[in-house]
Amino acid sequence: MKVGIIGSGGREHAICQSLKNSKEIEKIYCFPGNAGTELIAKNIEINLDNFENLKNFSLEKKIDFLIIGPEKPLVDGLVDYLEKHNIKVFGPNKLASQLEGSKIFTKKLCENLSIPTAKFGVFFNINEAEKFLKKCNYPIVIKADGLAAGKGVYISETNEDAKMAIREIFEGKFGKAEQLLIEEFLDGEEMSFFVISDGKSYKQFGTAQDHKRVLEGDKGKNTGGMGAYSPSRLENEVLNNKIIKKIIEPTLNGLKKDNINFKGFLYAGLMVKNGEPFLIEYNVRMGDPECQTLLPKLKTDFGLLIKSCIDEKLSNTKIEWHNDRSLCIVMCSKGYPDEYKKNLELNLDNLKLNKNEFLFHAGTRLVNSKIFSNGGRVLNVVIRSSEFKLARDKALKLLKDINWENGFYRKDIGHKVITE
Ligand code: AMP
Ligand code: GLY
Repeated sequence: MKVGIIGSGGREHAICQSLKNSKEIEKIYCFPGNAGTELIAKNIEINLDNFENLKNFSLEKKIDFLIIGPEKPLVDGLVDYLEKHNIKVFGPNKLASQLEGSKIFTKKLCENLSIPTAKFGVFFNINEAEKFLKKCNYPIVIKADGLAAGKGVYISETNEDAKMAIREIFEGKFGKAEQLLIEEFLDGEEMSFFVISDGKSYKQFGTAQDHKRVLEGDKGKNTGGMGAYSPSRLENEVLNNKIIKKIIEPTLNGLKKDNINFKGFLYAGLMVKNGEPFLIEYNVRMGDPECQTLLPKLKTDFGLLIKSCIDEKLSNTKIEWHNDRSLCIVMCSKGYPDEYKKNLELNLDNLKLNKNEFLFHAGTRLVNSKIFSNGGRVLNVVIRSSEFKLARDKALKLLKDINWENGFYRKDIGHKVITE
């Protein structure tokens, strides 16, 4: 089969590698991919906002199916467009993608279906929102509605902070805002919970914990993700069942009642408090760097798994995992998530990867066989091991060997599961 992957991050390189290992896949195109995907597949420079070019290319090359990595093309309706032209694609359509594209859509769904989540209110102007603040206890959470690339969420400790957050959102810091959300602050431990669905049935697809903050000790600004580990230390059968029964099934069934079939990866960002799960947010894709962390543990042929979803035969497919732990550390360009330089050369020629050691590229590009940085998050080192501590030690050793003078990374990824 010939497949296409849309996106250019570490998640997409990990997907590309898993497809490369699949016995059914003969050709992989990445739109636009990165230096890592270029080494194992064919990168195609294409403007992802131009759906027509993508359609024409896919038809011309007779691509069997496409996998969409990031949220924006999903929320923009790329799946609907391609399916209209009889191109098969793994990812949710525009209506289903509202689960990520509109926080208010998801909150209302939770309210209608009694899905546990933080109490919330929707506000349409500064005055209304500020008036509500007078009745609030702090901290309080204030959120812009649309996609904001991991930003657009404020945890405000004081009335002053909250007022500033409201102003910034309504003044358009995260795009035009006609409404915002004010939410109760949930105190607990976060967990990422994944399922895969073919629109008819679904299966669990593992758990992880990511580290969003830029500094060690989970301090500093929010980023796209500085590292992750899998499984989450919270995972157990009782909690899994609660998540499925109280959150995942009501959501998928609720969408079905409105004739929306969810096909793709569904990623629930949860807060777990005293053994009870609460939904913080949905993403309609795999997480990045959770995807890079999880896929090396997958035993099942990934190409066949996705094909079974395309054919709506997921219920007949068994998903098997290596019974290992996995840990990912992200190497970033100095200055990230604020200002950072691009086009800095990386030399990976002498890097040796042993069994169960993986290097995924994120913001990189290949120019005349040389690798240059092309984004804030640049490389992902992932190790599969029987123990988290061993995984982290090996990842740190590889990052030290890479010795990129323009990069930095957190040395404490997995600190909750590594005590010594
Ligand atoms: P979101 O983009 O909705 O995932 O929010 C980003 C981050 O803000 C989450 O990963 C949480 O760490 C935090 N957060 C969001 N909503 C809440 C909440 N209601 N209570 C506590 N923390 C929250
Ligand atoms: N790791 C967080 C995300 O992919 O949204």
